[in-house]
Amino acid sequence: GSGAFVPAVVVGTGYGAAVTALRLGEAGVATLMLETGQLWNRPGPDGKVFCGMLDPDRRSTWFKNRTEAPVASFLWLDVVNRPVQPYAGVLDRVNFGQMGVYVGRGVGGGSLVNGGIAATPRRSYFEEVLPQVDAGEMYGRHFPRALAMLGANEVAADWFERTEWYRFARVAREAATKAGMRTRFVPNIYDFAYMRREAAGEVPKSALAAEVLYGSNHGKRSLDKTYLAAALGTGKVTIETLHRVTKIRREKDGTYVLTAEPIDAEGRRLAPKEIGCRYLFLGAGSLGSTELLVRARDTGTLPDLGAEVGAGWGPNGNVMAGRANRLLHPTGARQSAIAATCIDDWDDPAAPVFADVAPLPAGFETGISMYLAVTRNPERGTFVHDRATDRVGLRWEREQNAPAVAAAKSFFDRMNKANGTDYRYDLFGPRPKAFGDDFCYHPLGGCVLGRATDAYGRVAGYRHLYVNDGALIPGSIGVNPFVTITALAERNVERVLAEDIAR
Ligand code: FDA
Repeated sequence: GSGAFVPAVVVGTGYGAAVTALRLGEAGVATLMLETGQLWNRPGPDGKVFCGMLDPDRRSTWFKNRTEAPVASFLWLDVVNRPVQPYAGVLDRVNFGQMGVYVGRGVGGGSLVNGGIAATPRRSYFEEVLPQVDAGEMYGRHFPRALAMLGANEVAADWFERTEWYRFARVAREAATKAGMRTRFVPNIYDFAYMRREAAGEVPKSALAAEVLYGSNHGKRSLDKTYLAAALGTGKVTIETLHRVTKIRREKDGTYVLTAEPIDAEGRRLAPKEIGCRYLFLGAGSLGSTELLVRARDTGTLPDLGAEVGAGWGPNGNVMAGRANRLLHPTGARQSAIAATCIDDWDDPAAPVFADVAPLPAGFETGISMYLAVTRNPERGTFVHDRATDRVGLRWEREQNAPAVAAAKSFFDRMNKANGTDYRYDLFGPRPKAFGDDFCYHPLGGCVLGRATDAYGRVAGYRHLYVNDGALIPGSIGVNPFVTITALAERNVERVLAEDIAR
């Protein structure tokens, strides 16, 4: 006996979830999406939906007393973070013992807070990481469809070459070129035509007003503007916000019963609900989907889940670093908050690195070149359930990031040597530190494709239970991951709709 029943439930509203809901809705399947965070469409007292990065308020952060920005200090001073009221804000940092994982909270998941970089992985690496997947079909059909649906576009080269807003990226290109490395444009889902109008003073500024990390008020094609808008447009999809799914069980007739714990935006708990469904899709991200299945296995509500559930997690080799440019090479007080270029050194056999040339829109001249390096780190973490607290933790030791740091060091050492420059040691906390290696933006894995699931995300041991998000990717993909998550979700849901779902 349960409360409400719907044919299909999708947990989460990030990339994998949004793709799944759209395709279910188009196929006529009534679908309920359950999302922990808020719908971000109402302006606050300042007339803006989101707060800016340089002036964060409670909208920035998911239930903390203080913001937790990744680049946390400047000249070792704790000048970046601010006290805030606990609130259902848009960015969360889930702090496991040795690794802080940034995730988006709200309708659109990571698309609300991320840098928008829409990178397609190198085919040879994709084939190595996901050998069960037909790469020809992915590169011929699913990647192009994902990029089109997401609204990926590139900066216009002529404008890039002359605008002050990308001086930082040109300076970084020069430094890379001197070290013999290749820089290129990387697509983004931020509308570059809108950005040019920002620069011309024709429209309200967003990327050019340091809006990233805590949401963008204009210009960004987050999922609520693309896949989720289309999903709602089918008339078959509904979204319940501020509903966190905590438990999953299965009844004898095959119905899945979820416990959802609603809260209000200040965190007051409302009465829990039970929701039944026939088809259950987990799209709560690497952390969220894995947590639900690990808890279900270890508390005995889905006892047939196997040992592969919870295994194979990785931070996509993420390492952040900043270089101090010489005075001759100012990076500009004005910087677009949206990355437009990357350095592709994945061919280096010893230490493959793909680095985003990241902005540091501080509003003053810092002389810093910032990077998010994606490296190839074979180390993996495991999610474990703690019976006493009913929490799911991540077993990941700091030393497991040593291969990623070594690759980043080899890459940036070469760049520094060629340019007569050094690292900035003052950006990642109170002690001198060149590499930001205790946090990540790209959590991947936990319910790996072909191990915890079949080759299409069907969870082993349970009919009509699916994972369709970043949890499927085994810890590494070699570039920023959301395009891969989106394209893989398109592929999987197409198959599931054709084979599993009675209509
Ligand atoms: P995603 O995390 O997007 O969505 C999961 C959703 O499920 C969230 O909305 C969450 O609140 C919800 N949820 C979780 N548990 C739940 C539960 N129990 N019940 C209900 N709802 C639940 N990638 C990239 O390709 N280019 C980039 O530039 C960047 N930049 C970047 C910057 C920052 C700051 C971050 C945090 C991340 C990025 N990323 C990125 C990473 C990218 O955003 C990420 O890989 C995807 O959002 C992951 O998509 P998923 O569909 O797996 O889950």
